[in-house]
Amino acid sequence: MHWTTLTGLLALGAPATALIRFQCSQLVVERLDPLVTPGEVPSPHVHQIVGGNSFNATMDPSKDMPGESTCTTCQFSEDFSNYWTAVLYFKARNGTYKRVPQHSNAGFEGATGGGMTVYYMQDPLYDTKQASKVTAFKPGFRMFVGDVNARTKQEAARFRQLTYTCMDNAGSRENETVAFPARVCPYGIMTSVRFPTCWDGVNLDSPNHMAHMSYPESGTFESGGPCPASHPVRTSQVMYEVIWDTRQFNDPADWPADGSQPFVWSFGDPSGYANHGDYVFGWKDNALQNILDTKCYATSCGGKQQSIADMNKCAGLKKTVDEDIGERLQQLPGGHMPEPERR
Ligand SMILES: *[C@@H]1O[C@H](CO)[C@@H](O)[C@H](O)[C@H]1NC(C)=O
Ligand SMILES: *[C@@H]1O[C@H](CO)[C@@H](O)[C@H](O)[C@H]1NC(C)=O
Ligand SMILES: *[C@@H]1O[C@H](CO)[C@@H](O)[C@H](O)[C@H]1NC(C)=O
Repeated sequence: MHWTTLTGLLALGAPATALIRFQCSQLVVERLDPLVTPGEVPSPHVHQIVGGNSFNATMDPSKDMPGESTCTTCQFSEDFSNYWTAVLYFKARNGTYKRVPQHSNAGFEGATGGGMTVYYMQDPLYDTKQASKVTAFKPGFRMFVGDVNARTKQEAARFRQLTYTCMDNAGSRENETVAFPARVCPYGIMTSVRFPTCWDGVNLDSPNHMAHMSYPESGTFESGGPCPASHPVRTSQVMYEVIWDTRQFNDPADWPADGSQPFVWSFGDPSGYANHGDYVFGWKDNALQNILDTKCYATSCGGKQQSIADMNKCAGLKKTVDEDIGERLQQLPGGHMPEPERR
């Protein structure tokens, strides 16, 4: 099934399936990373963050920080989780950097800062049955996927499904790549971040924030591959879609003369191989499991929901780090230098 059909289903309303798909407005963009570098102000590189407003530099897991939120920028108003990724910059020919803004997926227009679309899937995205039983995450659960140091295709191959889609229009979903798109993408560049789906059932986190999770032992989540004995608990597949609005940067005259592409992650990766994402679970009580156990689709999944206007009221968290992160910078915040792709 293709995207056009999914869009059709969304337009029709509520088929009897359970796939959770919703938008979150941007909470804040700054150099904080309570998962990888808790307490470090500023953190090494810039992130864009959505979700509950208790997000801060430390987020001590023993304190169930998301539970302290008084609002969320996500459409499900009982989802105080935090979801974040790095930020994309455009490097101009004269060497200056400008932050690339985001826009929302079609149908979610008006979300502050574009934000991101979040999915919790029981079965592959285009399987409308979504019938498999999955276990929701527990309070204190966190995870990370990707490798900020990956600069080669081989290094990126350790992870499945961290991709880019060069968008010709709002509905483009074809030809995902693991490197940044090499051509001009008229509508923008979508990054898709899909997390592993097998949990060890014990640890809420691990030193590298990944070892407590695993990919299926054979096949993939999409092919219904079984979880390994070491990580026997099948969870939903969490996926982020972030659309980088590259439209103001699409004049080929502004692109590097050597034919390379001009975008670079906030930590200095111009290859795209270091695509990564961070997740801190924060759904209230059993709200997530209840929805996963209900036959529902997208935002027709019951639970408590709020309008985009109300999501936006929670956006604009007061920043902890006072620095310019956007306009024509002489260097990336944190001083990262783009390194050439290694082959
Ligand atoms: C984060 O919030 C928690 C709970 O409110 C608080 O104890 C902690 O000091 C805060 N950390 C920072 C760096 O503001
Ligand atoms: C660098 O190039 C950008 C894009 O062409 C331009 O907007 C900016 O003013 C230039 N900055 C400097 C310092 O030349
Ligand atoms: C996707 O890739 C195929 C095969 O290379 C190509 O024919 C097609 O035009 C591509 N589609 C888009 C939207 O780029």
